[in-house]
Amino acid sequence: MSKQALILGSKGMLGQELVRVFAEGGHDVTGWDFGDIDVTDTVLVREKIVALVPDIIINAVGYNDVDACESDENEFAKAWRINAEAPGELATVAKELGATFVHYSTDYVFDGEQKGDGYVEDADPNPLSKYGESKYDGEKAIEAIGGKYYVIRLSKLFGAPAISASAKQSFFAKMAEVAHGKGAISAVDDERGCFTYAPDLAIATSSLVLDSAPSGVYHLVNEGSVTWYGALMEYFKIAGIKAMVTAVSGDAFPRPARRPKDSTLCNTKRPKLRNLREALTDFADSTRI
Ligand SMILES: NC(=O)c1ccc[n+]([C@@H]2O[C@H](COP(=O)([O-])OP(=O)(O)OC[C@H]3O[C@@H](n4cnc5c(N)ncnc54)[C@H](OP(=O)(O)O)[C@@H]3O)[C@@H](O)[C@H]2O)c1
Repeated sequence: MSKQALILGSKGMLGQELVRVFAEGGHDVTGWDFGDIDVTDTVLVREKIVALVPDIIINAVGYNDVDACESDENEFAKAWRINAEAPGELATVAKELGATFVHYSTDYVFDGEQKGDGYVEDADPNPLSKYGESKYDGEKAIEAIGGKYYVIRLSKLFGAPAISASAKQSFFAKMAEVAHGKGAISAVDDERGCFTYAPDLAIATSSLVLDSAPSGVYHLVNEGSVTWYGALMEYFKIAGIKAMVTAVSGDAFPRPARRPKDSTLCNTKRPKLRNLREALTDFADSTRI
């Protein structure tokens, strides 16, 4: 009998890919987003999930407005509810049902001061921003509850735009629009990290679950550490987009939240995802008209 997979945030950039990949893998998929459920509604979440009895619960919901929650207390309260509290509540329900729980976190749990090749999965987090704090609190809540769980850290997601009400485009799609409008482009060249292609992460998530890997924290990113500028130049070259791009320091864009200088993630526990260049080639092909 096929396994029942519940995907929360199913209309998000990652969620939509998870729905596709898990369905293609033969799972019986239920996707919920706003309209079906608000993950901060503790009572309804429990009621609906207990009635569904899923084998796997994948939480792709996240509050991702790094700067808004740094500067606005109400936004931070929202971020904390979605990123820190709700994941713990979901993990509790999953444990009670004997379901596998999958949750996504971020490289922004690290301070970026590492001097080596990147952060391994058991490196000590030290978030610089309130967003990073909220995501780290979510990780700790899930770990404390236990059960069968995967906390997957990723960096700078890109892929097809989300299909949710407040859908966002990826960094590359936004910059391509600016280039086509002949706007001036500056990209930060002193913040380094990895990128994650949503379809690749969905496949890597599915294989993690299928392999029944041990519970814990995983780093799933496309291989290769780059700056925003480096990644954008690579993408424009692959996509054949001609634009003048100026490399600037992060200080050129004063933002409320501090970013880590080098938040490169090392994946030491799972098969490596393909490198960023290959993922960008796939992304460029999928967006060509
Ligand atoms: N994007 C990145 O660069 C990045 C980097 C590191 C980690 N992550 C993590 O990766 C995961 C997936 O991110 P993503 O970029 O795919 O997110 P996303 O595109 O914003 O998708 C999240 C989905 O959840 C929905 N949602 C938001 N709040 C909800 C709530 N309270 N109840 C039910 N649904 C709700 C959103 O709807 P609306 O769009 O209508 O709000 C959206 O459809 C998140 O955990 C995120 O923190 C993302």
